[in-house]
Amino acid sequence: MQIQNKPWSIQGKYVVITGATSGIGLAAAKELAKRGAHLGIIARNPDKAAKTAALLRQIAGSDSMVDIFLADMSSQQSIRQAAEALLSSWPQIDVLINNAGAMFMERKLTEDGMEMTWAVNHLAPFLLTTLLIDRLKQSGGRIITTASYGHKMAKEGIRFDDLTAERCYSLPHRLLLGASVRYAETKLANILFTSELAKRLQGTGATAHCFNPGLVSTNFNQGNGWAAQLTMAIMKLYSRPPEKGAETLVWLADSDEISGQSGHYYTDKQIDVPKPHAQDSETAKRLWEVSLEQIQS
Ligand SMILES: NC(=O)c1ccc[n+]([C@@H]2O[C@H](COP(=O)([O-])OP(=O)(O)OC[C@H]3O[C@@H](n4cnc5c(N)ncnc54)[C@H](OP(=O)(O)O)[C@@H]3O)[C@@H](O)[C@H]2O)c1
Repeated sequence: MQIQNKPWSIQGKYVVITGATSGIGLAAAKELAKRGAHLGIIARNPDKAAKTAALLRQIAGSDSMVDIFLADMSSQQSIRQAAEALLSSWPQIDVLINNAGAMFMERKLTEDGMEMTWAVNHLAPFLLTTLLIDRLKQSGGRIITTASYGHKMAKEGIRFDDLTAERCYSLPHRLLLGASVRYAETKLANILFTSELAKRLQGTGATAHCFNPGLVSTNFNQGNGWAAQLTMAIMKLYSRPPEKGAETLVWLADSDEISGQSGHYYTDKQIDVPKPHAQDSETAKRLWEVSLEQIQS
């Protein structure tokens, strides 16, 4: 564990970020590049990754400040390969930002037999964090996960008896309600994961944080057909720009104010209180154990 003698700042730190090719992640990566962070972006699409890296290098004013690691966050093998590449190419990791996320209108299973929303939004952060945790402990680093106020829609909490979401996707009006409840469950999982991770990191110097970006105008939910696109077009009228949605994320990565804090859920740079299901420490512990089983290869 590294002893932090001077105030925390992102300048010169190594930041691993998922979902930096669009929306909130891209806005955060641009700001972090501007502030002098060295970025390792994990992305699934090589062309988009190259374009994003070129933009970030331009902002950073240096080619050596941005690395690309390719991974599809729905595939555990792909995540393991990217983590291996990261660990072998970069000796220090200071911040991990688990930001990639999606919603799926139709129920799909991944190559690992997991339901797709669960795999990308919850298991991918869980697995990636597990694989990089020793490096993050060494640097007294920060793990930041993009959660959502939408967790409140998971009114039954995490349904451990429906992990592959068969029941969830058969809810009435399944095209919207099933997918939304499933998405909410994964965002609830992000908050529970953060609180349990913080407990497990106590005494190591590393910390865990999650946040609610608000309603943000991004590419989110654009690949889900006309009904989803129409809903998002209406929601855009009430949305924040990506830069505003990324503000709390950048603050969590860069600010010295949160040194000493861990396990919290933030909205607009303030500790916020999530819904009761997200505060249940027994559920958080159970989720951790179930997730561990789900990432056994
Ligand atoms: N927008 C909102 O109002 C809102 C509100 C609360 C929380 N959030 C959360 O914010 C996070 C970012 O979403 P966003 O709104 O910025 O949406 P976005 O513009 O669609 O960005 C999503 C990012 O995740 C990446 N991604 C998705 N699936 C992936 C996969 N299988 N493998 C690798 N990367 C993948 C995307 O990569 P590609 O570029 O290759 O597609 C993209 O970079 C998500 O966790 C979301 O749940 C969003």
